[in-house]
Amino acid sequence: MSKTLVVSDNEILNQLYVINLEVYLATEVALVLSTQKAQELIESGENYDLVITMNMINGLDSAVTLYEFLKTKNLTTPLVVIGNPVKEIPDIVVVQSSYHLKNLLRSCADILGITSKSMAALNVPEYYSVDTKFLMRLGEAPCQIFLQVKKSSEGTNYAMVAKKGSSTTEVLRKFLSEGIVNLYVNKLDRLLVINQISKILCDFIKSSEHLGMVEKSAALEAGFEFVASDFCQSPEATQEVMNIANSCTKVMEEISKETPGLRALLQLLNSNKNGYIYTHSILSSFIASHIVKKVSWGGEGHLEKINFVLFFHDIMLAPIYLKHPTLKYEEDLLFNDDLSVKEKELVLNHARMAAELVITYRRSPMGADLLIKQHHGMTNGIGFAIDFKDDISPLSKIVIISEAFVEEYMKGKDSDPDYQIDLKKIIPALIEKFKKSTYKKIIETLETIKL
Ligand SMILES: [Fe+2]
Ligand SMILES: [Fe+2]
Repeated sequence: MSKTLVVSDNEILNQLYVINLEVYLATEVALVLSTQKAQELIESGENYDLVITMNMINGLDSAVTLYEFLKTKNLTTPLVVIGNPVKEIPDIVVVQSSYHLKNLLRSCADILGITSKSMAALNVPEYYSVDTKFLMRLGEAPCQIFLQVKKSSEGTNYAMVAKKGSSTTEVLRKFLSEGIVNLYVNKLDRLLVINQISKILCDFIKSSEHLGMVEKSAALEAGFEFVASDFCQSPEATQEVMNIANSCTKVMEEISKETPGLRALLQLLNSNKNGYIYTHSILSSFIASHIVKKVSWGGEGHLEKINFVLFFHDIMLAPIYLKHPTLKYEEDLLFNDDLSVKEKELVLNHARMAAELVITYRRSPMGADLLIKQHHGMTNGIGFAIDFKDDISPLSKIVIISEAFVEEYMKGKDSDPDYQIDLKKIIPALIEKFKKSTYKKIIETLETIKL
């Protein structure tokens, strides 16, 4: 068996890389979180057939460091770099986006001498986790369903809890009541399950067209949760997940159109116990649809793109908000002691990561990835802007102003439950924050927003 060293500090991607390399390339994977650890392992005499590294780790150029390290050790171990290295390095393989898993696997397969035939012949067991709530929607098991029994040094065991074709409602309800929120399916059944759930969910979201706002919001949130959970595990269930995202985008548009005003919308969102990402995205969508109609260069045509952007922009933060449900404003996350260093890094990079993910979908609206990347005012999608400049797209500015408006509003409500929205206060506060005239023009359109 070949041996591969993966150097990556990205919590979400690590799992994905390790599992896929092991399953598809049958290589034994060692994962280290820092460049230094990688050097130590190699120094200690470990031999690897392949080294894979993220281009940057902890702000340092891991690709160059490892390349030079291998050279000084007279090692010819092939090096695969995920993301463009800062300077050009000869004889390495670069895989552009961290989510192009297929490209990564293909490149590594070449290096390890694995043909597509031998890849297909490999049959390593692997289980894919599915939210119990989503399985509930199916009513009948489309394949065997497993429960994770225990983790031991010899690996994890899974017990079958539902046969293919059996009715699942009872048993799943029981698991849910016991707090078991995840069940598993065999990796070969994964797409089948995801497709079925997406189809049912899609129908559910679409059928909400003639329903009231509360039902619409519930449908939308279910869709959002599903996309978020699938994304965090495996960003390649493309078509199905995209279908849901597209249906959700339409519902967002409808909600914005149908609500009598901001207050009504907030009340609706308060009545469901929605997460922060969901709540602020829907509110921002309402604000943005107002702005788009009012700015001279805007048009209805921008709405679809903006709603798509708002649907995905913070999706990478979903696991963090799930773990810390009381947290809110994104910038505050950076200063919160409950978050690990890794989580904070994810916060810093969430715009860039979501953009990279969306770009792999063929059906995403043109330029949506750029808007997602810029949604905190940074052109590279890393960090949060303090000084908002003109170097970003006009539509990004609309997204940013919409989110800022919502944040002002939510903060006002936080400090005083009887808080009444006062445009005479919010608008000057926004103008103070966004000093450039291009932003000011957008902010001024808010004077006529329906409250
Ligand atoms: Fe964000
Ligand atoms: Fe956001």
